[in-house]
Amino acid sequence: MRVKKKRLGISLLIACLAVLVSVSLWADTPKVGYPNLAKTKEIVIKRGFSPEAIKCIECHAQKTPGIVESWKKSRMAHAGVSCYDCHVVPKSSPMASQCEGVKNTNIYTSPMVSPKTCAKCHPTEVEQFEKSGHARLAGKPTEKLVKLIYDLEGGGFIGIPKRDTRNWASRAVSCQMCHGGKIELGPDHKPIKNTWPQSGIGTRYPDGGIGNCTVCHTRHTFSIAEARKPEACASCHLGPDHPDIEIYYESKHGQIFLAEGEKWKWNSAPETWEPGDYTAPTCATCHMSGIGALKTTHNVNERLKWDLVHKKSVVRSGERGDGEKGRKLMVQVCANCHSTLHTQQFMSSLDNAVALYNTYWDGAVKMFNDLKAKGLLKKDKWSDGYQELMYYLWHHVGRRARHGAAMNGPDYAHWHGFFQIFQVYKDMQAIYQYRIKHNKIEELSTVMSSAPY
Ligand code: HEC
Ligand code: HEC
Ligand code: HEC
Ligand code: HEC
Ligand code: HEC
Ligand code: HEC
Ligand code: HEC
Ligand code: HEC
Repeated sequence: MRVKKKRLGISLLIACLAVLVSVSLWADTPKVGYPNLAKTKEIVIKRGFSPEAIKCIECHAQKTPGIVESWKKSRMAHAGVSCYDCHVVPKSSPMASQCEGVKNTNIYTSPMVSPKTCAKCHPTEVEQFEKSGHARLAGKPTEKLVKLIYDLEGGGFIGIPKRDTRNWASRAVSCQMCHGGKIELGPDHKPIKNTWPQSGIGTRYPDGGIGNCTVCHTRHTFSIAEARKPEACASCHLGPDHPDIEIYYESKHGQIFLAEGEKWKWNSAPETWEPGDYTAPTCATCHMSGIGALKTTHNVNERLKWDLVHKKSVVRSGERGDGEKGRKLMVQVCANCHSTLHTQQFMSSLDNAVALYNTYWDGAVKMFNDLKAKGLLKKDKWSDGYQELMYYLWHHVGRRARHGAAMNGPDYAHWHGFFQIFQVYKDMQAIYQYRIKHNKIEELSTVMSSAPY
């Protein structure tokens, strides 16, 4: 931190110089001023706003005061970034429309703001983010799993017609809100079919931008402190299939966060947030923040070895990252607070847990292939007990065991994890043996619900 704080001093100096330069550049521009906000309590403006930008702020302080109040708290407001910089688009933009306040002017606005706009000023963060599973990969399931989303969850199989408004509901209120999906526009360039608003991390914008920065830095405060807290990840990383926030809260790290977090320093400048500001890591510390010699990254795949999401865990490669390198980087995080011995032992337990899970999975696949060869599987896997359990084996109980092992959540690794894995597996064995012995499929699914929680 010591060295880095010095670097901060230098960058502050550069920032001041930049302000001086921009002030002298702006000196030529007439009519630069400050908004008249009657109720404003505190706002430090280092740079003026253009008259057009002031109009947006002043009118919106009346019409949508909540937005302006949050924006006023942001660092960006203090650095002179306003509604105008993010919401005004060229007339040629596919998202161009006009808000009530700019009707019949030559200004065009959009309620949608994609990472392409942020990239104008934050190119590095956007570039890293685009390479991560949080961008393109995250939005893919809502495009690909059409049968699940519309035919099953959307009620297609109970007769709800395709493109009926009820048919969109499951996608709009669930997958899209975490994963993101494609925003579709009507002729007036406004969103249709409930494809917006969405808080999905892999949102596809009509201007070609992919991703959604506001999921961790919520609008309009866009705070770095908020993104460092575990709650920033919790809106998505929770629940029966990836209970990461639950695991974190029960881990020793989470215990310390819950007991001490209020006193930690959350708003240190980028790259200077270090042990001392906090005494235990949050999700961001391990997966994103700069710590020791490691630099901040917006690519959450960078520090991962295993793929702990899919059916069988393999070492990451290709678009999922570089697993061997990922492990080295993650170990570097731990090294700030733990001995090498501690970290080695921990990582070795994690690798063993992955190997144990993979062995169960391989066994399940073997039985599956056997049943398939003998014609003992139903075509509809959601009414076939064996296949339903096979889904829960990897997607729920198996993921819980793996995530629990990776992040020190023993209750999830065990009671919601390996304990349930062996139970589910035994049930699968029983169904398998029944089918082989009688050469037929039992009439009703013995699972018949969203069983093992
Ligand atoms: C740093 C960029 C940025 C600034 C500055 C900014 N916004 Fe936004 N705004 C966003 C983003 C990002 C969204 C979410 C867009 C999405 O969902 O696609 C948004 C959403 C909105 C929405 C639509 C969502 C809603 O809740 O209705 C409105 C209205 C809005 N902003 C108004 C404003 C106003 C007024 C200001 C100035 C006081 C402002 N914004 C400043 C980035 C910005
Ligand atoms: C004279 C008042 C006024 C001015 C000036 C104004 N707005 Fe608006 N704006 C509104 C009102 C009213 C709404 C509609 C709010 C609602 O739907 O309840 C709105 C809505 C919006 C929305 C939401 C999307 C939409 O089209 O409804 C955005 C984004 C927005 N304004 C941005 C801006 C920006 C950027 C500027 C400056 C270039 C600006 N506004 C200037 C009054 C104004
Ligand atoms: C016109 C340039 C500009 C645009 C566009 C812009 N930013 Fe910024 N952003 C800045 C500046 C300047 C700062 C302040 C840097 C500082 O104070 O060190 C900043 C700071 C930030 C911070 C750090 C805040 C903190 O608490 O320290 C975040 C997060 C951020 N921006 C996110 C975004 C997002 C998300 C978008 C797109 C929706 C965006 N920015 C668009 C210029 C911009
Ligand atoms: C708006 C929802 C959302 C938020 C908030 C969110 N994530 Fe994610 N995250 C996802 C989704 C969806 C995926 C799955 C991506 C995919 O399809 O590969 C994911 C995947 C990941 C992965 C694995 C990447 C991969 O390719 O397998 C990590 C690690 C991760 N997130 C960490 C975080 C951390 C740390 C935070 C908070 C700082 C966070 N996430 C916040 C939705 C979110
Ligand atoms: C509460 C937020 C949330 C909801 C709702 C949600 N997911 Fe996910 N999903 C996630 C997160 C977080 C991950 C990443 C888990 C991990 O990395 O282990 C994920 C992972 C996935 C994956 C594996 C990653 C990949 O790209 O292959 C698929 C597929 C998936 N989800 C599909 C869906 C579908 C389809 C829906 C709706 C029917 C849905 N999810 C609803 C949060 C959510
Ligand atoms: C998964 C959560 C998450 C998402 C999504 C996210 N950020 Fe961040 N962002 C963070 C965290 C955590 C930090 C603080 C890193 C640290 O401790 O220094 C941060 C820091 C920043 C900073 C401060 C400078 C820096 O690099 O540390 C900027 C600027 C920023 N983010 C912009 C963006 C933009 C633009 C996007 C969209 C492309 C985005 N963020 C998406 C979590 C996120
Ligand atoms: C002490 C550091 C640490 C903390 C704190 C932490 N994680 Fe992790 N996380 C890890 C490790 C280590 C792995 C497994 C890496 C590997 O594959 O070897 C992991 C794996 C993951 C994965 C699985 C990636 C995949 O393959 O699907 C997700 C998702 C994730 N973490 C999200 C989170 C979220 C969300 C939080 C906070 C609620 C969090 N993590 C807190 C260290 C941490
Ligand atoms: C900012 C410092 C910090 C970082 C970084 C950190 N830890 Fe910890 N960790 C702690 C503290 C403090 C404890 C609590 C020790 C206790 O219970 O007395 C702890 C406890 C643990 C425990 C529980 C067992 C024990 O010794 O009490 C495990 C396991 C663990 N950490 C693993 C990791 C791993 C793996 C990483 C890296 C992925 C990591 N930690 C990163 C500070 C940290």
